[in-house]
Amino acid sequence: MEAGRPRPTVDRIGSLLMVLVVLVLAGCRQDMHDQPRFKPLSESDFYADLRSARPPVEGTVARGQLHDDTYFYTGKFGNNPGDYMPFPVTMDVLSRGRERFNIYCAPCHSRVGDGKGMIVQRGFRAPPSYHTERLRKAPLGYFFDVMTNGFGAMPDYAAQVPPRDRWCIVAYIRALQLSQEATMSAVPAGEKVPSNPPVFRGDPGSGATLPELQPGAPKGGAE
Ligand code: HEC
Repeated sequence: MEAGRPRPTVDRIGSLLMVLVVLVLAGCRQDMHDQPRFKPLSESDFYADLRSARPPVEGTVARGQLHDDTYFYTGKFGNNPGDYMPFPVTMDVLSRGRERFNIYCAPCHSRVGDGKGMIVQRGFRAPPSYHTERLRKAPLGYFFDVMTNGFGAMPDYAAQVPPRDRWCIVAYIRALQLSQEATMSAVPAGEKVPSNPPVFRGDPGSGATLPELQPGAPKGGAE
């Protein structure tokens, strides 16, 4: 063995130690951890208003939030409710309206819209019947607005019922109103109308749960 030359094992241990030291030191660097940024809503003395967050540029529109068809989203022109549907009313629209109405409105307003739903029977404030003169004459956009913004004791249904479904409900409410006010002159010529009203077992009550039809009774208006 030659003298003066370090033994290979010691050499290896030495370089391993160096690598370890370098790694440990590198791990201690905090550059990436201390980023020059603000946590949401934290304070900053950089801006005059002391807020770190800047308001969005005027006119900024979030994705999917461009509600440029104002009537569709508000039911109003300026401050006044309009009186037309923003899309044609088909049978599908009415069916959708009936389904949504029975889910979201009937618990209070009842399935026939007389305001005697199950929740009301259990003590909630009674809404007015849709079949009053005032609400029969109310423009379509008014019903849309009540659903969108609530009305008195009634909460709004903007979160639960999207705008198109609200319009479907509006169309269905108008159909409900017509159903209680129909006259023979509204029947197209040559069409037959069942003349006897449906006969129910027991008291028709709120309509929240419809009583069974008596067997053999004429159908119509029961659904
Ligand atoms: C939790 C019970 C409840 C539900 C559910 C409910 N409403 Fe109402 N609604 C009320 C009450 C109570 C009033 C009367 C509020 C008042 O006068 O303070 C009312 C009033 C109304 C009015 C009449 C406003 C007026 O000018 O008198 C309309 C129209 C209406 N609701 C539509 C709806 C529609 C459509 C739905 C379904 C999306 C719905 N409501 C769901 C309780 C409810």
